[in-house]
Amino acid sequence: MPGIVLVGAQWGDEGKGKATDLLGDRVDYVVKFNGGNNAGHTVVIEGEKYALHLLPSGILSPNVVPVIGNGVVVDIGVLFEELDGLDKRGVDTSRLRISANAHVITSYHTTLDKVTERFLGKRRIGTTGRGIGPAYADKMNRVGIRVQDLYDESILRQKVEAALDVKNQMLLKIYNRRAIEVDEIVEELLSYAPRLKPMVADTSLELSQALDAGKNVLFEAGQATLLDVDHGTYPYVTSSNAVSAGACTGSGVPPTRVDRVIAILKAYATRVGEGPFPTELHDDQGEFLRKTGAEFGVTTGRPRRTGWLDTVVGRYATRVNGVTDFVLTKLDILTGLDKVPVCVAYDVDGVRHDEMPVNQTDFHHAKPIYEELPGWWEDISNCRSWDELPATCQAYVEFVEQQIGARISVIGVGPGRDEVIVRHDLLKD
Ligand code: GDP
Ligand code: IMO
Ligand code: MG
Repeated sequence: MPGIVLVGAQWGDEGKGKATDLLGDRVDYVVKFNGGNNAGHTVVIEGEKYALHLLPSGILSPNVVPVIGNGVVVDIGVLFEELDGLDKRGVDTSRLRISANAHVITSYHTTLDKVTERFLGKRRIGTTGRGIGPAYADKMNRVGIRVQDLYDESILRQKVEAALDVKNQMLLKIYNRRAIEVDEIVEELLSYAPRLKPMVADTSLELSQALDAGKNVLFEAGQATLLDVDHGTYPYVTSSNAVSAGACTGSGVPPTRVDRVIAILKAYATRVGEGPFPTELHDDQGEFLRKTGAEFGVTTGRPRRTGWLDTVVGRYATRVNGVTDFVLTKLDILTGLDKVPVCVAYDVDGVRHDEMPVNQTDFHHAKPIYEELPGWWEDISNCRSWDELPATCQAYVEFVEQQIGARISVIGVGPGRDEVIVRHDLLKD
C-alpha cells in the first residue's frame, strides 16, 4: 500500500509529528506538501524531544528519505538552522530532497506578514509571523521566487525586482517602513545556493518512480483541516491546502496513487490564533486541558486555546479528507474527569446542525450540544492494548468513532513513540 496521506483533523497540533514518527520505520519517503515553518511538530524518541518546523518529521527516521514538496514555502535560512540543529544532535540529514518548484520565503515576506497583522488590528488572523501568507500570495500572483531561480542570477534578479516593485511602494507609503534593496535579497538568496544545490530535485518525478517501485510514501500535512484555505474557517486559516487533496497538488503525485488517508484527532480541541471555536472553554476546565496537555505553541510559544472534543468537526474532517483511519491522540489527558463532554451537534440560533454550517456567521453563532460520557480515573498511560483500557474509556472511544464515521485505529496515551494502543495496523489492515 504505497501512498498514504496523513492530515490534522482539527486546528493543528493534534500530534501529526508523533504519528508520522510512529510509521517512520515502515515507510520509505515522508513528504511535506504544504505550509512552511509555521508548523511545529514535537517528536519524543527515547525521552529525547525534537521540535521540527520546516523539515518533514520523517527526517528523524534513519531509513526515510524526507522530501519538501513543491507545495511548501521554504525559508532557506530557517531550513539551514534546523538542519544544523539536527546535525549537532547526530541526526543524519543528508537524504533531504527539496522540490525545485517550491517557493521561497524571503525577508520581505516575513516583514509584510508582521506589518499587515499590525494594520489589521482587531481583525488580525494571529499568524505565526513567518511570512507564510505573503509568500503564497506571491505564488498565486505569479511574482514568487522558486528554489530553481537561485541557480540563474539574471532571472533571480528580474523576479526579485518584479516582486519588490509594488511591495516597496506599500512598505514606504502605507506601512511607513524602509524600502528593501533588490541587491540585499539577491545576495542573500545566492549565498544559500551552493549548500542547497545537492538537495534540489524533481521531487515529483522521484516520488513517482518510488511509487512505481512499490515503495511506501507518506505525505505529511502541516496545519489541519479547519486551517485549510478552502475548507477551513476562512479567513482565520493558513494560506495553503492542508486537507488530503493538498498532498497531490503539493507534491505532483496524482489522487489515483493515494491508498489511505489517516487523520489525527486530539481527544479534545485546541486552536492557536484568532477565529471561531465553538467548544472553547474559558474556565478552569480549559485551564486544566492547557496545563495537563502542555498546550503551548511549539512555534510561537503562545498558550493554545482549549475546549472539548467537537465531533461535528471530526465528521467534517472524515468527509473532506476521505479519512480511512483516525489516530486519536492525548486520550491520557482526559483521565480524572467525572464526565467527559463531547460536542455532537450545534445549536445555531435555535436550529440544530449536525454538519458544519456552510455559512460563516452560523459557525460563529454555533453553540455546542454536548453528550456527557462517564469518565475514568485509572492512569492509562501504561496501557498498550485495547483490553487494558477501562471500560468507560473504551466506551468513550467507541462513541467518538461512531460520531465521526471512521474507525479509530490507533490511540495515543503519551508523547513517546511507544505510548500507543494499536487496534488496526495503519499500513496493513
Ligand atoms: P503536530 O503539530 O500535529 O505535530 O502536534 P504538536 O507537536 O504541535 O503538538 C502535539 C503535542 O502532543 C506534542 O507535544 C506531542 O509530544 C504530544 N503528544 C502527541 N501524542 C500524545 C499523546 O497521545 N499523549 C500525550 N500526553 N501527548 C501527546
Ligand atoms: P502544525 O503543523 C496550529 C495558525 C496560526 C494562525 C493561522 C495562520 O503544528 O499543526 P500562518 O502563520 O500559517 O499564516 O497563520 O494558522 N497556524 C497553526 N496553528 N498549528 C499549526 O501548525 C499552525 N500553523 C499555522 O496560529 O491562526
Ligand atoms: Mg504543531
